[in-house]
Amino acid sequence: MFDSGFGGLTVARALLDLMPDEDLVYVGDTGRYPYGPRDLSEVREFALEITQHLLQNHDVKMVVVACNTASAAALEELQRITPVPVIGVIEPGAAALLDATRNRRVGVIGTVGTIGSGAYQRAVAAHDAGIELSCAACPGFVEFVERGETDSEQVHVLAERLLAPLVDAGIDSLLLGCTHYPFLARTISDVMGRDVVLVDSADATAFRVSDMLRDADSLRDGGDRRGVHRFESSGDVEAFRALGRQLLGPELDEVTAISWPDSATS
Ligand code: DGL
Repeated sequence: MFDSGFGGLTVARALLDLMPDEDLVYVGDTGRYPYGPRDLSEVREFALEITQHLLQNHDVKMVVVACNTASAAALEELQRITPVPVIGVIEPGAAALLDATRNRRVGVIGTVGTIGSGAYQRAVAAHDAGIELSCAACPGFVEFVERGETDSEQVHVLAERLLAPLVDAGIDSLLLGCTHYPFLARTISDVMGRDVVLVDSADATAFRVSDMLRDADSLRDGGDRRGVHRFESSGDVEAFRALGRQLLGPELDEVTAISWPDSATS
């Protein structure tokens, strides 16, 4: 699985809890984060490169794109060209959002890339065209998470400004359409009000992965050992280990450095 940085750890946590016997390789592309403000074509290149790395160097049986921006940019192409199943977070998240709503007014927040791509608008409409959907891009949220600053006065002020249109829209359910945002759940909930249900795609994606592996008869049988969990970062590995461990838990122990031969890093 991969993400631009730490956000996909929310999905990793759900996968580890649901399927502790599976071997997992997590790539956090912190050397090139954030993906959100980049052109989708550039994010697509990164997603293809990381998927190649997972296939060639780790012989994975499935790829989880644990990043909404990368899912919006590259999922269809990855599914077309990759010899193993590839699953993203957008469709499972949209399904979970529609399960949660009662008043049929829902919201999605995400990066500029994700919201601008229209991927959520299409996914929600494909399920139920009668739903009233309000979307908002939240530039800046990811940077707060990557700094480990999830509950500060500054992020609260930013959230009040960015989420105001969604409060006004009277939604009853809000999808955190960026895998980094669950780390800001308390702040987002304070601003939206306790009656608004916050939905994240981590659990829904983990259940989808487990169903697909079971259907393909490729769930790993625990046998004599538990799953092995590897973490790789294209940025500062010590920083990744320190913050990642705080966000994911003790399974994140060692972090290996990876680099991309020809990539821009800014
Ligand atoms: N966590 C990623 C997502 O779900 C993107 C964060 C970024 O901008 O890199 O969209």
